[in-house]
Amino acid sequence: MTTIWNRLADYRAAQGDTRITDLFEADPDRAENFATQADGLVFDWSKTLIDAGARDLLLELARGADLEARREAMFAGARINETEGRAVLHTALRNLSGSVVLDGQDVMPELRATHDRMAGFARDLRSGAFSGQGGRITDVVNIGIGGSDLGPYMAVLALAPFHDGPRVHFVSNVDGADIADTLKGLDPATTLVIVASKTFTTIETMTNAQTARDWMAGSVAQPAAQFAALSSATEKTADFGIDLSRVFGFEDWVGGRYSVWGPIGLSLMLAIGPERFDEFLAGGAAMDAHFRAAPLEANLPVLLALVGIWHHQVCGYPTRAVLPYDNRLLRLPAYLQQLEMESNGKRVAMDGSELAVPSGPVVWGEPGTNGQHAFYQLIHQGTSVVPCEFILAARGHEEALAHHHILLAANCLAQSEALMRGRSLEEARALMAARGLEGPELERQARHRVFPGNRPSTTLLMRQLTPYTLGQVVALYEHRVFVEGVILRINSFDQWGVELGKELALKVEPLLKGEDAAGHDASTLHLARLFRSMRG
Ligand code: F6P
Repeated sequence: MTTIWNRLADYRAAQGDTRITDLFEADPDRAENFATQADGLVFDWSKTLIDAGARDLLLELARGADLEARREAMFAGARINETEGRAVLHTALRNLSGSVVLDGQDVMPELRATHDRMAGFARDLRSGAFSGQGGRITDVVNIGIGGSDLGPYMAVLALAPFHDGPRVHFVSNVDGADIADTLKGLDPATTLVIVASKTFTTIETMTNAQTARDWMAGSVAQPAAQFAALSSATEKTADFGIDLSRVFGFEDWVGGRYSVWGPIGLSLMLAIGPERFDEFLAGGAAMDAHFRAAPLEANLPVLLALVGIWHHQVCGYPTRAVLPYDNRLLRLPAYLQQLEMESNGKRVAMDGSELAVPSGPVVWGEPGTNGQHAFYQLIHQGTSVVPCEFILAARGHEEALAHHHILLAANCLAQSEALMRGRSLEEARALMAARGLEGPELERQARHRVFPGNRPSTTLLMRQLTPYTLGQVVALYEHRVFVEGVILRINSFDQWGVELGKELALKVEPLLKGEDAAGHDASTLHLARLFRSMRG
């Protein structure tokens, strides 16, 4: 049977050595036809080898996976996270005027109440009505890891121009260096510590929380009074001593890496205020509305996903780079690594059968222009093709430094142009001849200056990075992950792959403290022995 995957592979093979530039010659309107706009965002996917035929096959792939029905099932609260028996409703967190009924119960009143309590707490803290034992709160330390860190950390950095609250810091790593470096210089009497952990059992977070409490106890009479918790494990937060009025919970149908929209976003709300935080939610909700209503061929998350599928599953490119030309999106690649790789880094389909096509790609990246001076060499001239996803705002926030922004943007556009066009051997030879080289030396030097080109990229363009547009972009990527997961028929909402290492760490810990124990491999025992002896 010829599957749609076979037909896509055949289509790709039949393209032979077609170049992206050929597609522009064949279709004079390609730049417009392959740049899709919605609510102020432009997704340009023209600099790829996807032409009308490939696009139609990809859309057929999406329809064949029952994407539209699966999408509605998610928004309606069906238990699409089948391996954990859970609904997936992070979208409800950003649509507080909406309605979602789960198991016969309206979930919205509870969500609205928690949001309003968060906003009340944020207002009190920002106005000074809630203070520390040494006065007004000047610093907030969010202790969490994975989804309880990456989302708020990324968003707090991204929205720095909107900060008008306390300074916000993040501690995630169990490495004592992280918390030591963060707490150094902070005054315990004017610091609020937020323990962000859905389960309130994650060992890194609980170890750091205990260390922060000891630090606080060294200076103030009631350390727990300057703690808040983002968790629904209220027995555990009570055991830790945190008053219920500063505990903000969320349900098991909000996955960790999808949780920035609710209580896990408290640090962001404290930094930018509840009104700006609501603008962030509004951006996410607007993307939800677009994702639900737009036809697949004009649907940004669907197209972003299909471009990803084309490059990874069809063309076989093993990684993709996310390259924000915005220094404040410094942590976006790390955030997307968890979102995409924890969601779609799976080896079996929902029914337990092995996947016939590769699952999600390796995602990595770094803001431009810094990356240009680090790894772009490989992207331009290395032997593996890395599809690049450029992200750019038309306006910066530094009006007095507008010339920086133009230069930044020029670099972004130049990179995608260079990746597509490349430089031929003839052009390189002409360059070398112009520099006075000739003969074998000209030939040798010219070969080093060839750029193969034909390297695909997309560009996401927005007017300016604001709470609203950040909300749009984050929700866009969330839904992209969902669409890819539906097409691959995997469960994008569990993460069993993180369990084994966690379990073994608990068993290895005694090895490092004491004696050899049975049940470990020879290499691990050897390393543990060396570790002990090198500690002295
Ligand atoms: O890394 C696994 C994981 O469960 C992530 O999915 C989650 O974001 C993170 O750990 C933190 O979990 P918690 O919020 O329960 O501390």
